Amino acid sequence: MYARRDVLLASAALGLLAASPMLRAESATGMLTRKVPSTGEALPVIGAGTSGSFEVSAGSAQYQQLKEVLKAFFQGGGKIIDTSPNYGGADAILGQLLEEGGWHRQCFLATKIAADSPEAARQQWAETLRSLRTDKVDLLQIHNLRDWKTQLPYARELKQQGKTRYIGITHYLASGHEAVAEIVRSEPLDFVQINYSVNAPEAARELLPLCRDKGVAVLINRAFDDGRLFAKVKDQALPGWAAEAGITSWAQLFLKFAISHPAVTAVIPATGRPDRQLDQLKAGVGPLLSEAQQQALVKQFA
Ligand SMILES: NC(=O)c1ccc[n+]([C@@H]2O[C@H](COP(=O)([O-])OP(=O)(O)OC[C@H]3O[C@@H](n4cnc5c(N)ncnc54)[C@H](OP(=O)(O)O)[C@@H]3O)[C@@H](O)[C@H]2O)c1
Repeated sequence: MYARRDVLLASAALGLLAASPMLRAESATGMLTRKVPSTGEALPVIGAGTSGSFEVSAGSAQYQQLKEVLKAFFQGGGKIIDTSPNYGGADAILGQLLEEGGWHRQCFLATKIAADSPEAARQQWAETLRSLRTDKVDLLQIHNLRDWKTQLPYARELKQQGKTRYIGITHYLASGHEAVAEIVRSEPLDFVQINYSVNAPEAARELLPLCRDKGVAVLINRAFDDGRLFAKVKDQALPGWAAEAGITSWAQLFLKFAISHPAVTAVIPATGRPDRQLDQLKAGVGPLLSEAQQQALVKQFA
């Protein structure tokens, strides 16, 4: 573990501080961190998702590859991993990988309740703990607001019992943002998880500023539009200004766009490939995008 002063000195030597618009909080690996408003806990801005990419068979070649993904993720300063009981067994794969790699203690584990009745939620929660091979999680979210009026009080009950440190709600489409905003206005929440990307920037208008005002941490899903953005930029060169921001790939650019909004706590891109994981982590280092650069991207992908 490095002292913060050493990190600042090392960062200054690399020219990172000189390139930054302001003195920023960074983890021991130099990754930018943001604080969870309800507690002040600092979290690295690049997290990981498990939808699709972790839906593999235990022991398969893809499973072995995911071990390398997680090794790169934790060594590179990553912490937050998001999953759900309805990601085709991804949570059980994640639980097994975390146990085999001895990474449970390093991981900020986020999962969800996706159920339609109190009884279904209770059964699902018991299964979640078995799948994730843990007795508690860091964040429990109501998946896509499903049955939220029943499930949010249940999540709160689990928080009181020490089974989760934080609670939140999720959605993945701009059409869900108004419903998310209504809950943010009326219920105490630690986290919100929403979509935000260069081709779906709607959250910047009202929902992200609202979360900031209300002191709610924000996780960003679908920063690559579930991978579709890569097809859109196939054979296209990065914008001329990308190098100034230390960006060398489209993946880094899409992730930098997400974390450049000050209300965003972390982005949770998914990948099953170690090379892509290493690339994604680079987005958490160096300067953020200026307002003009963010606007140029929104225009390009409109
Ligand atoms: N309602 C909800 O709560 C909700 C909804 C959506 C998502 N989420 C969460 O947010 C996470 C992220 O969202 P997402 O998985 O839907 O989408 P995403 O992160 O936008 O995109 C993931 C996809 O991008 C591909 N990819 C990654 N890097 C790439 C690269 N350099 N070149 C080409 N393809 C690349 C991945 O494929 P490879 O694996 O082959 O790299 C994967 O298929 C999810 O995993 C989940 O944890 C939550």
